[in-house]
Amino acid sequence: MIAPKKVIWAALVLMSTAAVGIGCAPPSAHGPATSTISVLLPPSERPFWQPIANGFEAAHPGTHVDLVEGPQSTDLRESLYTTSLLARDATFDLVYLDVTWTPKFAAAGWLCALDDSFPPSEREHFLPHAWDAGIFDGHLYRVPVRTDMGLLFYRQDWLDSAHVHPPATFEQLAEDAVVLGDPPARWGYVWQGAQYEGLVCNYLEVLTGYGGYWIDPETNDIGLEDPEAVAAAHFLVDATQVRASPPGVGTYQEEESRRIFQDGRAAFLRNWPYAYRLSQQAGSPLVGHVGVLLMPATDGGRPSGTLGGWGLGVSTYSKNPELATEFIRYAVSIESQRALCAPTGYAPALEAAYLDSTLLAVNPFLTRFRALHRHCTVRPAIARYAQASDILQRHLSAALAGIESPQMALEHAAHETRLLLGPRHPPRGTAG
Ligand code: GLC
Repeated sequence: MIAPKKVIWAALVLMSTAAVGIGCAPPSAHGPATSTISVLLPPSERPFWQPIANGFEAAHPGTHVDLVEGPQSTDLRESLYTTSLLARDATFDLVYLDVTWTPKFAAAGWLCALDDSFPPSEREHFLPHAWDAGIFDGHLYRVPVRTDMGLLFYRQDWLDSAHVHPPATFEQLAEDAVVLGDPPARWGYVWQGAQYEGLVCNYLEVLTGYGGYWIDPETNDIGLEDPEAVAAAHFLVDATQVRASPPGVGTYQEEESRRIFQDGRAAFLRNWPYAYRLSQQAGSPLVGHVGVLLMPATDGGRPSGTLGGWGLGVSTYSKNPELATEFIRYAVSIESQRALCAPTGYAPALEAAYLDSTLLAVNPFLTRFRALHRHCTVRPAIARYAQASDILQRHLSAALAGIESPQMALEHAAHETRLLLGPRHPPRGTAG
């Protein structure tokens, strides 16, 4: 992650290069001989996008794809794109969007509708949840490139030797985590508790397991004061209090938690599918020892994992929207899916990739993942998602730090979210 100061500097550089937007028009005839398209990516992904960019350039002589490294944190990249697009800056032709960004960016008029190039009939080629995250007001603004889903990884060998079954309920998970842990050498359950988007993802799948909900995007109803929501927050807060989770879990993002598991120092890890591939790579001490589950559920809830994932859209201010759209087409070819997903363990967005022998040979887990993906839980598709998430992040984080009780944290979060979203409205299609 880069320091906030650096982000401010990066934002200023973007604004100083701002150009007046030209909408989604084709490039001008007086354009440069070499057409450049650029995109801001997390540094961890850049090396795996390079072969895709090279392949595209070879197939389109006279073009250059500029892969710009941004901060690693999702939230900080969202801020950078927002600053740039608010300034009608043409720096980024392509926007690499998290699964939750589409409503905000599309409602602001920052993305070109892609329906002509990717008509609704193409939906069947993609994982449905991944495709649907790109739709806003009936138009497609984001094409999914890779999907994600929160999963619960566990040490099968430790459970076996302790004669413990994989947990199906939160009580069992808590019990197993305590039994199998031996803090501080060995922790029961590691996850992402830092104040950022990942914390919301972790909470949401626990919340779904308890049968609760966060925001109903249809009605603006907020479920954070319901007993299920409080129970879900308690589950995470109590995990630290009983030392099933490390005291530092409130500062962990994906990699901090994954490294503890990878080093053989945790029984359970909540993370995204890439963590599984890394645990099973040649030389890893965990080869053959890791099981995968959905987050458990109580009777009234359902086992699930939060839907994540990344896709590409075309900026309204791009001077090369057609070339940018062609790049998206290239990025979702089976060859590009192989280039991005084989070395990383990322989950492809393209259905055909789940039957691809090259990908299956390096990552046989994809078959199981495809089945699990049907159980994902989706973050609310609302234009003010970033602010709603920020409210929840702040209060969950206060609860983890012991500054607010879980109940009080969620009451405050519910109140602030209500102020943000305005009054409840009736579900679509009903009178009144
Ligand atoms: C992963 C997911 C993304 C999520 C982020 C949170 O990158 O794909 O959807 O928002 O993690 O850290």
